[in-house]
Amino acid sequence: MKLFEVYPLYDVIPVKGEGVYIIDDKNKKYLDFYGGHAVISIGHSHPKFINNLKKQINKIIFYSNAIINPLQNQLAKKIQEHFSIKNYKLFLCNSGAEAMENALKLCSFHTNKKRIISFKNSFHGRTSAAIAITDNDNIKSPINKQQKVTFLELNDSKSLEEELKKGDVCAIVIECVQGVGGLDQVNEKFIDSLEKLSKKYKACVIADEVQSGFYRTGDFFSFEKFNLKPHVITMAKGMGNGFPIGGILINPEIKAKYGLLGTTFGGNHLACTASLSVLEILEKIDLKNKIIELETYFRKKAKRISSIKKIKGRGLMLGIEFPFEVKELRRKLILEERIFTGGSSNKNLIRILPPLTIEKKHIDLFFNSLKKLT
Ligand SMILES: Cc1ncc(COP(=O)(O)O)c(C=O)c1O
Repeated sequence: MKLFEVYPLYDVIPVKGEGVYIIDDKNKKYLDFYGGHAVISIGHSHPKFINNLKKQINKIIFYSNAIINPLQNQLAKKIQEHFSIKNYKLFLCNSGAEAMENALKLCSFHTNKKRIISFKNSFHGRTSAAIAITDNDNIKSPINKQQKVTFLELNDSKSLEEELKKGDVCAIVIECVQGVGGLDQVNEKFIDSLEKLSKKYKACVIADEVQSGFYRTGDFFSFEKFNLKPHVITMAKGMGNGFPIGGILINPEIKAKYGLLGTTFGGNHLACTASLSVLEILEKIDLKNKIIELETYFRKKAKRISSIKKIKGRGLMLGIEFPFEVKELRRKLILEERIFTGGSSNKNLIRILPPLTIEKKHIDLFFNSLKKLT
């Protein structure tokens, strides 16, 4: 049987991961400035992560969500230690898109409304409602196009109020730092009006932290830089360092009811162990300062390459914009320089999403290669 081909593939076969490196089947070593799409937070094959998972495999891997799983409570407690706002509740699932489906469903239940406001260049996943609120018509089927969604320009509070006035909006979904879209960011003034307008017109706010969460931008969640108290926060990628896990944090305004949400695999024993291990490892590093320092260093090094037009993004969620398309440059970075980077819907932009454990010497390696190729 052949694979259903939905990805254009690079000709590399990774067989091993080691910290910030990937090793292929020919024993070639690649610097990972992509993190498997912002997933690798604590680095590949972290010994504590592996040991904790091994120990858990020997105990129990999975059991039904109809039976108590204390690891879920431990994970909720641990996330609270990292998250600045108190009293949110945790629901666990398996991926970013699933987190978004659950978030949207909750907001629609809560408000009894169904139109969603999303933003130009947004990406929220590939399942039913998540893809409907993603700003890319090429990947939507007619089924997905049934949802009532309005796309607005990012940071446009006037249009936001005009839409909210119509009274039918259940949720406004925001990525404070856009990922797939190309690293555009919200501004403080916009978030202040978003917070006020959502209250005035009784619409929920969903902060999509699937890519930007778990310290990717330096803050645990990217929205914590602003004065915003979302109704629901979605998270996934960096949460499990490659073990599939997603989740939502739910504002106490939204009350739980049996049957409101549910999942077979979400929050299983192994997934919780993976995420608990990620947080235990991350809390040993002074992440906030470290990530700001690395971002500053990255920006300084980028200034020395004249063909770079702009550096976008925050923390270790960065984009390098060139005045030309970067497809060939990314291909050469992988095949000639052995460095993985990410693309985005902006064809002129390279996305940088390394493990949060990179050091300045890795940034040096990256810029040496970039200089050689540009
Ligand atoms: C901001 C954002 N939301 C949601 C998703 C969907 O996550 P997943 O691929 O785990 O379903 C992604 C994936 O790239 C994302 O970047």
